[in-house]
Amino acid sequence: MIDRLTLHNFKAFRDVSLPLGPLTLLTGLNSSGKSSVLQSIALLRQSYEAGDLAVSEYIPEAQRAGLTVSVMNQGFLLNGELVGLGTGEDVLHEDFAEEEARIGLAVDEGPFHYGWTVEYEAEQNLLPLLDVDLPFTSEGRDRPAGPQAVAPSFLTAPFQYLHADRISPAEFYPRDHHAAIGRAFLGVRGEHTVNFLRHHTRDEVPAGPLRHPAAASDLFLDQAAAWMGELCPGVDIQAAAVKGADAVQLSYGFQGTLGPTRRRRPSNVGFGLTYVLPIVVACLTARPGSLVLLENPEAHLHPQGQTRMAALAAAAAAQGAQVIMETHSDHVINGVRLAVKQGQLAPESVVLHYFRGDGTGVEVVSPRVDTDGMLDQWPEGFFDELENTLDQLIG
Ligand SMILES: Nc1ncnc2c1ncn2[C@@H]1O[C@H](COP(=O)(O)OP(=O)(O)OP(=O)(O)O)[C@@H](O)[C@H]1O
Ligand SMILES: [Mg+2]
Repeated sequence: MIDRLTLHNFKAFRDVSLPLGPLTLLTGLNSSGKSSVLQSIALLRQSYEAGDLAVSEYIPEAQRAGLTVSVMNQGFLLNGELVGLGTGEDVLHEDFAEEEARIGLAVDEGPFHYGWTVEYEAEQNLLPLLDVDLPFTSEGRDRPAGPQAVAPSFLTAPFQYLHADRISPAEFYPRDHHAAIGRAFLGVRGEHTVNFLRHHTRDEVPAGPLRHPAAASDLFLDQAAAWMGELCPGVDIQAAAVKGADAVQLSYGFQGTLGPTRRRRPSNVGFGLTYVLPIVVACLTARPGSLVLLENPEAHLHPQGQTRMAALAAAAAAQGAQVIMETHSDHVINGVRLAVKQGQLAPESVVLHYFRGDGTGVEVVSPRVDTDGMLDQWPEGFFDELENTLDQLIG
């Protein structure tokens, strides 16, 4: 699990060091830096998956010996499957100190600290690595003896990352074996969700907080339908391959008063169900050690549904995954507080960050949740709009 994330000269952040927990909520005004935090993790992951991020034990050894050859052609890959950030000049914090035009990202996992620093090159979209900081253990795991770099688990663990802009209701969805089945990745817009569901229909959701008690069975599709039923009671979902095409289809059914309805296509059942499906499936893929990054899980949901999505995210964290989500919803915050009060998640498992940014710098305030789900502080602007409006209405 990522316990701390440190950003230096990255987009809106000159220097920030954020503790993260099993369930971390990033809140704050628009354009205050929430997505940028998720992007920094995704950037490291994207660079690593492309083979551009040094995690080899030989890199620091070579650096110590004064060699730079090993880090050639390695660095932060700014544009790829997970994020498209542009070039160096887009990413370097505008207000950087002149003498240090470099970008640094660092991650702490338990006792281990990992850091990568890259050089600023205005026009480049692969920013070259200058420095790598990797932890070592004295016992070789693959080799009989000698120091060995510890690989960070956030780069290799099962991973989901869903952007705020996700799939909308459509007739067909892609059938990409490599993404949905080989890598079990739903895609940043959730575009592989339907194919993932089709393939994993009969997988069992492991016992634990993620299992919905009212589901027809412990199987993945029934569990997904039960969590979707929190938004729209009685809904069921099916995912099927389209014969003769590299496509899959999604359909919905409803438990009507006279029995089950006919199957309905996504465009005929509203927007919210399909929009939230990737969030539900991403949470259901949560396993101990996995990492789930979510932007605005509440989008297009009615207030009660938003609270229930928070319960699902809390269940994913209680199942052992690390969930980091950006939200604008007080219903999501309250859903998480309720999960703590009801004992589904320990208070220390929840980390809240409230970002106050004006486009030139960011201040972070971090209220704590107690066992009753109460917060130790309510910074100005932090989900106080209901109260502000009521004051004016009754004043
Ligand atoms: N190179 C840069 N230097 C300084 N600030 C930057 C740089 N690039 C982006 N920013 C700032 O970072 C902020 C972008 O933040 P981000 O995209 O993380 O917003 P957000 O909090 O997720 O917003 P929303 O709630 O709308 O999703 C903006 O204020 C933008 O001006
Ligand atoms: Mg955002």
